[in-house]
Amino acid sequence: MSLFATKPLDLILRDSEGESLKRSLGAGQLVALGIGAIIGAGLFSLTGLAAAQNAGPAVVLSFILAAVGCAFAGLCYSEFATMIPIAGSAYTYSYATMGELMAWIIGWDLVLEYAVGASTVAVSWSGYVISLLKDFGINFPPELAASPLEPVTLPGSTTVIHGVINLPALFIVVLVSGILILGIQESAQANTVIVILKISVAILFVIMGWAYINTKNYTPFVPPNTGTFGEFGWSGVLRGAGKVFFAFIGFDAVSTAAQEAKKPQRDMPIGIVGSLVLCTLLYVVFSHVLTGIVNYRDLNVSAPVAVAVDRTPYMFFRPAVKLAIILGFTSVILVMLLGQSRVFFSMSRDRLLPKVFSDVHPKFRTPWRSNLLFMVFTGLFGAFAPLSVLGDMTSIGTLFAFVLVCIGIIVMRRTHPDRHRPFRTPFVPLIPLLGIAFNLFLMFGLGLSNWIRLFGWMAVGLILYFNYGRKRSITAG
Ligand code: ALA
Repeated sequence: MSLFATKPLDLILRDSEGESLKRSLGAGQLVALGIGAIIGAGLFSLTGLAAAQNAGPAVVLSFILAAVGCAFAGLCYSEFATMIPIAGSAYTYSYATMGELMAWIIGWDLVLEYAVGASTVAVSWSGYVISLLKDFGINFPPELAASPLEPVTLPGSTTVIHGVINLPALFIVVLVSGILILGIQESAQANTVIVILKISVAILFVIMGWAYINTKNYTPFVPPNTGTFGEFGWSGVLRGAGKVFFAFIGFDAVSTAAQEAKKPQRDMPIGIVGSLVLCTLLYVVFSHVLTGIVNYRDLNVSAPVAVAVDRTPYMFFRPAVKLAIILGFTSVILVMLLGQSRVFFSMSRDRLLPKVFSDVHPKFRTPWRSNLLFMVFTGLFGAFAPLSVLGDMTSIGTLFAFVLVCIGIIVMRRTHPDRHRPFRTPFVPLIPLLGIAFNLFLMFGLGLSNWIRLFGWMAVGLILYFNYGRKRSITAG
């Protein structure tokens, strides 16, 4: 058995037999799918934190930097997605190209993108729910909606205490996991309504907020560095990019729809790059308005849009905005937890993980045990870890996955030069190399503590692999 044994492409395709889907999606629908999966806590929560802690009004530049890294990776995702046309993920791609060890590493790493990502959105969900309840005169105890590592200010006073547990975040994780276990299909119509709602909120915010911009808030545009790497100055813009990178996570959802695309070779890049371009434009204008209405120093909150709306005469609009955002977050959590269970399902089917992750409930036909385990994992993170730590962990984990996918394209061109590729990443190896360099640069910007967390997580994964997966996997003989 070899650490570099690959899962043959034909076996991968055979495993996915019966999963064949109808080719019905056009370019426009793919763009809509992408935008639907992308807009969430990154925009409505982390923009505030990135401005307040790292970049100031220059958070708009952070968004542009993050988008460039995503675009390179997106083109690489497109080639894989059309070549291995199963509703797959970076895990499957790397098993086919770079062997079992890399596949394990990426599968383990994707927990950061999906499960920890879901915890991040759950914490943002909590922030907006608390704020909405307040509009209706209900004051939820702030210490029960914050991590013990987070300071909270008691209402009506300046006393700062520490949080105890984030109960609403825990609640939404349990609720969404329950929905996944019961296998209630998120209806396409409900999803479309939610997508339209969240885009409308972002656009309305820009249009209505524009008149309330105070241009004084833009000076200094790049606040001077405090002496610490990542706290303002240009290093802050870079770290901010790593943070708001979270706002772009999900565009790979377009690549997972490759087998449903009518003309993948033309529509995949349009779907991926198109949704990235539209989101980037929206994000840049949105963050420009947000930091124009509210001084960046006051944006260190998990519900910055609520703070901004309070500074306009449109306060009546506030509950509707918050409700739309809350619904939007709920669907993002659902998609992320679903993605997580799918990745672990494949890994378990390849015997890299225990069977518990691919056990299907006899009645509901869902991987319910896996859903329960991830409910506990994601719930605990949501309940006890602060937003910015969770967001940064998700970002560094996803950036790492992007780097591996870019490497995978270069490897695949050598190992399978003649395989049919409905979409070819242009200018290989230049584009993948730029993707590797750019995404590593964004990872670098996230700073030492996040690298240590990433290495810690990976070390645990490798211990598990060498003591479990390697001995039992399908390539172990
Ligand atoms: N991009 C998604 C969000 O911002 C994950 O919530």
